[in-house]
Amino acid sequence: MHIIVTGGAGYIGTHTCLELLQSGHAVTVIDNLSNSCQEALRRVERLAGRSLRFFPADLTDPAAVDDIFRQSRDAAAVIHFAGLKAVGESAVKPLLYYHNNLTGTINLCQAMQRHGVKNLVFSSSATVYGDPASVPIREDFPLGTCTNPYARTKAMIEDILRDLHRADAAWNIALLRYFNPVGAHESGEIGEDPNGIPNNLMPYIAQVAVGRLPQLAVFGNDYPTADGTGVRDFIHVVDLAVGHLRALEKLAQQPGVAAYNLGTGHGCSVLELIAAFEKASGRKIPYRITPRRPGDIACCYADPSLAQRELRWKAERDVAAMCADTWNWQSKNPNGYRSDAG
Ligand code: NAD
Ligand code: WQD
Repeated sequence: MHIIVTGGAGYIGTHTCLELLQSGHAVTVIDNLSNSCQEALRRVERLAGRSLRFFPADLTDPAAVDDIFRQSRDAAAVIHFAGLKAVGESAVKPLLYYHNNLTGTINLCQAMQRHGVKNLVFSSSATVYGDPASVPIREDFPLGTCTNPYARTKAMIEDILRDLHRADAAWNIALLRYFNPVGAHESGEIGEDPNGIPNNLMPYIAQVAVGRLPQLAVFGNDYPTADGTGVRDFIHVVDLAVGHLRALEKLAQQPGVAAYNLGTGHGCSVLELIAAFEKASGRKIPYRITPRRPGDIACCYADPSLAQRELRWKAERDVAAMCADTWNWQSKNPNGYRSDAG
């Protein structure tokens, strides 16, 4: 199949493009490189031994998007990763986030509609559940109160896509709610390369381990969890990437709109992740306990059984593998994709 991948140069996008190429699919990437670089795509091609087609375009430019679809007549489906994702920044620049994520998605769907491509896999997030009443979280749980504009863009896009299917039943849409994606491809050639100081736990730990940052701040140890620190469902990015291929197979059965949790079903605390990373890397991770980060919840992990039943997908890699692969990527590429990586 020919698959159009928006945001394909990013962290999850690169890993998914690699799985697509390795499974024999043709891939067209649309990415404005606002949070990524073309070197990542070159590495994907090298690993796959195959090339992909890349358009450096912005989804907020409707003419550019339409033109790409005009040049992609045999496209069967779209995987839509492109979006801004920094929670803190979204509170400071809400209009940027609403414009980029919502307008970008609307432009994309309009082009898809015009060109008769009505199969879509969307990158949603466990953040749409807000602070869940209980764990594990099932897809039929009520969507929670979103605490930031980024989260609201995900909830709003889910609504827009449901409306689109209500208006035209020919659309098939998988809303994939990711839990906490971490890790890297086992080659260490592609991985997560955040701009500036990382917001998320795993890349922060990795940069402390490699000496780019001096110390980790653990945001609170007074949560009602076993060790007092936050508990999350970390999922290996390669397992997540494979989930997108299973979702594409599901769309071929014309399921309409369906939401799926992509997580492992296991909770891991901040302190447990630090210990696992120390073991995988052989490095000490200095940390200090600080107050809670506003908006954080105590505990969040998936019930992934719906994806297992309906997508025939299950996460296979454990926290030890997530840490080992993150360390392999970070130690081989201490400065990420930048060429001054020493
Ligand atoms: P990422 O920033 O690495 O990748 C997103 C890509 O989209 C980047 O390459 C960026 O340049 C591109 N992009 C952004 N706006 C664009 C636009 N208007 N036009 C064209 N390209 C644009 O992020 P990621 O971690 O790979 O996340 C991919 C998707 O998954 C995002 O939608 C994100 O919100 C969602 N998600 C991520 C996580 C996570 O923790 N990483 C969790 C849940 C959901
Ligand atoms: C995990 C745990 C922190 C950093 C975020 C978004 C969510 C989703 C995934 C896209 C928490 C603690 C963190 C640090 C710490 N993204 N922590 N020190 O908050 O679960 O989810 O990313 O959809 O929308 O909100 O992930 O990695 O930031 O935090 O102690 O320097 O690590 O308090 O308990 P989170 P995270």
